[in-house]
Amino acid sequence: MIKKRIEIIPSLISMDITCMKESLKKIPSKVSMLHLDVMDGHYVENITFGPLFLRNIRKITKKKIDVHLMISYPEKYYSDFINAGADLISFHPETALNPLNLIKKIKEKNVKVGLALNPDISGQTIKKYLKHIDYVLIMSVFPGFSGQKFIESVLEKIDYFKCMQKKHNFRIEIDGGINSRTGRIAIQRGSEWIVTGSYLFKGKNVKSNIERILHGE
Ligand code: DX5
Ligand code: ZN
Repeated sequence: MIKKRIEIIPSLISMDITCMKESLKKIPSKVSMLHLDVMDGHYVENITFGPLFLRNIRKITKKKIDVHLMISYPEKYYSDFINAGADLISFHPETALNPLNLIKKIKEKNVKVGLALNPDISGQTIKKYLKHIDYVLIMSVFPGFSGQKFIESVLEKIDYFKCMQKKHNFRIEIDGGINSRTGRIAIQRGSEWIVTGSYLFKGKNVKSNIERILHGE
């Protein structure tokens, strides 16, 4: 069996945007991806970053940027994020008019594509898309804000997707409320990509917080 690579993915939402260059320097080189939460004040009750912000971040880091679209009308905006430098894009299937069409359009641009699932949406609802996508993003909080409490019941979704990985080649990402305890649980259960925001940047020692998620306290 191929050993799965666990990726800890810092969420830009919790970084100090007044000194991004310095904040990025605190992230260890073994971290290969950053997570960008895009919220539109319509699909979710918060507004965060747009393509212009991504374009600027793109200039100061070589790490891959994983764009999480929490927006209505992803068809209208996905190409702006690709042009601004996204390496991966996930969207919530219920926001798209035709999810499969959008998956294909993103892949045509050589960008990895994921489907994001809110805590109350089952894994089975995206079964038919699994052969087309690169990753699933399991939301372990309701999207909108960082710093929320991890919803433990979503762990069952990891079991489902782990089982589906026997047939299809996609990764399992988890996002929301990750700390050293919940991160360990998600990894042990089978999640491979671990997004973390408020916990990671707490206490200013990003490196040791990453180690705590990977190896426990
Ligand atoms: C929620 C966001 C957050 C963010 C991570 O909509 O998607 O999950 O990336 O923030 P924490 O780790 O603070 O939940
Ligand atoms: Zn996210």
